[in-house]
Amino acid sequence: MHNFDRKIERRGSNCVKWDAEFVTDKVMPMWIADMDFEVAPAIQRNLQERVAHGVFGYQFLSDRYYEATMDWMRRRHDFHVEKEWIAYVPNVVLGIALAIQIISELGDEFIIHTPVYGPFYRAIQDTGRTVVESRMKNENGYYTIDFEDFESKITEKTKAVILCNPHNPVGRVWKKEELERVAEICVRHHLYIISDDIHSELVTKEHKHTFISSISEEVAERCFTFTSPSKAFNLASIHVANCFIQNQELREKFKEICEKSHATENNAFSEAVLLGAYEESEEWLDELNAYIEGNLDYAVDYIQKELPNLTVYKPEGTYLLWLDCRKLGLSDDKIHDFFLAECHIAVNDGTFFGEEGKGFVRMNVACPRASIAETLKQLKEEIEKLG
Ligand SMILES: Cc1ncc(COP(=O)(O)O)c(C=O)c1O
Repeated sequence: MHNFDRKIERRGSNCVKWDAEFVTDKVMPMWIADMDFEVAPAIQRNLQERVAHGVFGYQFLSDRYYEATMDWMRRRHDFHVEKEWIAYVPNVVLGIALAIQIISELGDEFIIHTPVYGPFYRAIQDTGRTVVESRMKNENGYYTIDFEDFESKITEKTKAVILCNPHNPVGRVWKKEELERVAEICVRHHLYIISDDIHSELVTKEHKHTFISSISEEVAERCFTFTSPSKAFNLASIHVANCFIQNQELREKFKEICEKSHATENNAFSEAVLLGAYEESEEWLDELNAYIEGNLDYAVDYIQKELPNLTVYKPEGTYLLWLDCRKLGLSDDKIHDFFLAECHIAVNDGTFFGEEGKGFVRMNVACPRASIAETLKQLKEEIEKLG
């Protein structure tokens, strides 16, 4: 069993999470979505071998890269992908921004289910398109898509829905029936589906991830499916992600815009890490998921018993807790500061995920359990002082 309890010093490594200006010595960073765990041994070994070679000129991706990706998707997810469907992109958000551009014109509309990962807004807005929010239903922290609202938001200008599965920040792993309803609406209204499945490897044991494009051929023909080993295997800075596109016309357009945007070049480590992850680290991933679920259970249990003014629902996937802080008695704009200045915990402010996130924070628990225990104790002490 891998030792996920080991604390690794990340300060001083130009690490966004730990070396951000506001993360002073006293602060425990539980914000941006990466993990405080070292990567799986096979990934480390592949990287060490690549480094030992000593030459880092221009690279391409070999057949093995594509084989490993297809094989992983089949083995781990029972999901069929063909080599031609795979387009490498350095990262998912860039890929989403490029997909948006090939299926729409300036001013066209994209629907997102909010609250949702902030860069979805930016990918739509920065390319001159319009965000249309469909607010999800929230019952004591359990979120569901409001299908009536979603459908009512579709206009002639709507080109696609951008789906987050598993959903960041609310932690839902969409059920097959839910995805079928999304897909049915998209087919009926001729919408494309941009599905961000970056968290698909991080799922709790009672849940199973489904790729929306696996629902039917008709659905697959309108899908862009984004995956990456970067979240679950902690490789965000290496820049390796894939977009699967079954539809040949869309695929050609996507590959063309990637080339024109100079977004096709990988680096000397992209293939090394993907092979280390997909070929050899499945057991490590199972252990990681078990550890993360232990963290989620620990934190959710503690919060529910000791911090009655916070509402939390155990996420079905991801390592992110979505904390409803509206009962703390603080104004919305003070909540994030309270966590940082008083409790010494850096979390993401809920408004990063849209207006719907007002009064919420997102807490990342991908760290040794002892750090969570300490942090939650601090949180309790400070909340008690609020009276
Ligand atoms: C849903 C989602 N998509 C994309 C990303 C970022 O991916 P990338 O760094 O590959 O752009 C994140 C990171 O937290 C995420 O949560």
